[in-house]
Amino acid sequence: MSLQAIRGTRDIFGPEMLAWHRVEEIFRDVTRTFSYEEFRTPIIESTELFKRGVGEETDIVGKEMYTFDDRGGDSITLRPEMTAPIVRAMIEHSILHHHPLTRLWYAGPQFRYERPQKGRYRQFHQFGAECIGSAHPESDAEIILLAHEVLCRTGLKSFTLELNSLGTASVRQTYRQALIEYLTRNKDGLSDDSQRRITKNPLRVLDSKDRKDKDIIAAAPLLSSFYDDTSAAHFAAVRALLDVAGVPYVINPLLVRGLDYYNQTVFEFTTTALGTQNAIGGGGRYDPLFAMLGGGDVPAVGFSIGIERVVLLLEAEQGGWQEESSRGVYLCAIGDEAILPVQTIAYRLRRAGLHVVTDLQRRSMKAQMKEANKQRVKWTVMIGENELANSTAVLKSMETGEQQTVAQLDLETILMDTHTA
Ligand code: HAM
Repeated sequence: MSLQAIRGTRDIFGPEMLAWHRVEEIFRDVTRTFSYEEFRTPIIESTELFKRGVGEETDIVGKEMYTFDDRGGDSITLRPEMTAPIVRAMIEHSILHHHPLTRLWYAGPQFRYERPQKGRYRQFHQFGAECIGSAHPESDAEIILLAHEVLCRTGLKSFTLELNSLGTASVRQTYRQALIEYLTRNKDGLSDDSQRRITKNPLRVLDSKDRKDKDIIAAAPLLSSFYDDTSAAHFAAVRALLDVAGVPYVINPLLVRGLDYYNQTVFEFTTTALGTQNAIGGGGRYDPLFAMLGGGDVPAVGFSIGIERVVLLLEAEQGGWQEESSRGVYLCAIGDEAILPVQTIAYRLRRAGLHVVTDLQRRSMKAQMKEANKQRVKWTVMIGENELANSTAVLKSMETGEQQTVAQLDLETILMDTHTA
């Protein structure tokens, strides 16, 4: 039997890799303009972190974690998300002590044992940002605008920003009680999953995709009718900031998100172009999380975006991967005598910062020229018997087809000039 990648994991290569690089570059650029700094945490964490941080009753912790005992007998989990690890690290290194307002971004693989399908994998990649230390609505807006800017810059068109507020902790508590009462009254009409969630995680019933639950959810009491003044004012201020920025959104009163640490603002970027996997990214305010992990009272807000989903959407919208534009130079050695000088020049040009390709299979000139075309280089440099004798090279522009003979020593200057032009 041939060996294959594990179900739900993927190899990324070729033109798709180029799309990843573009998206990652945009993310780095935008986070820089918003003054966020990169933070890296380990891929493995103690299982306890996610049980306490994400919540025992969530799907992620209940059904989806890759958890194992290591050789020392400790329970380890491959991270299913990044927010709990970031908060763990903030507390562990007392970072807020020195920087009471900390803005961070991260990117990397996450692991969830879900049923694989298009846009849903067991190893997937997120990039995200967390703004830690402010309880004010301008930090919610900053995070949403940052995520929105990233998606816009990639060129994506078919997405919607959905927004909701879960209210303060006490509002949520009162609402939870009212919702449990309502759902219990209507229990018989609910799906098995939702019935199970009534007491454990009633808010999650609201975003059930089960048809059976639809009518009961539609008539459920709305969280918004329970808002106190603080909750209403905070949500209004976030919306006002998005309005002045001209960023469109829709209010989805049923948006509750699947992790336990949220309060107040929650949001998701959704699409209808990826089948059932409709969330490109999501996040919200998570003031309770620091306390859940023993870090005291620290307000924070953040988001994560799924890179696979962004790349898939781009492919769908653009009808395929974009070709790379032509760049660099192909050095063609004609005859074995030219190999050493060509390799020497190649090294010199690479050290000068040029993108250089050479043949390593000792192929014919015709085969090398074919390869140069395939590699979409701007220039080809040919060195054969004549050129060796005169220390020259034939320089051919692959864009115009024009050829000129130049001194080997001048190659660097000529190519560097056109490189920067
Ligand atoms: P999340 O909604 O669980 O939030 O995940 C964020 C994004 O990760 C999703 O919208 C989706 O694009 C992507 N994603 C999730 N699961 C998969 C999967 N199995 N395959 C492919 N992509 C997937 C969080 O993880 C929170 N930590 C976000 C956050 C940051 N909240 C505050 N700060």
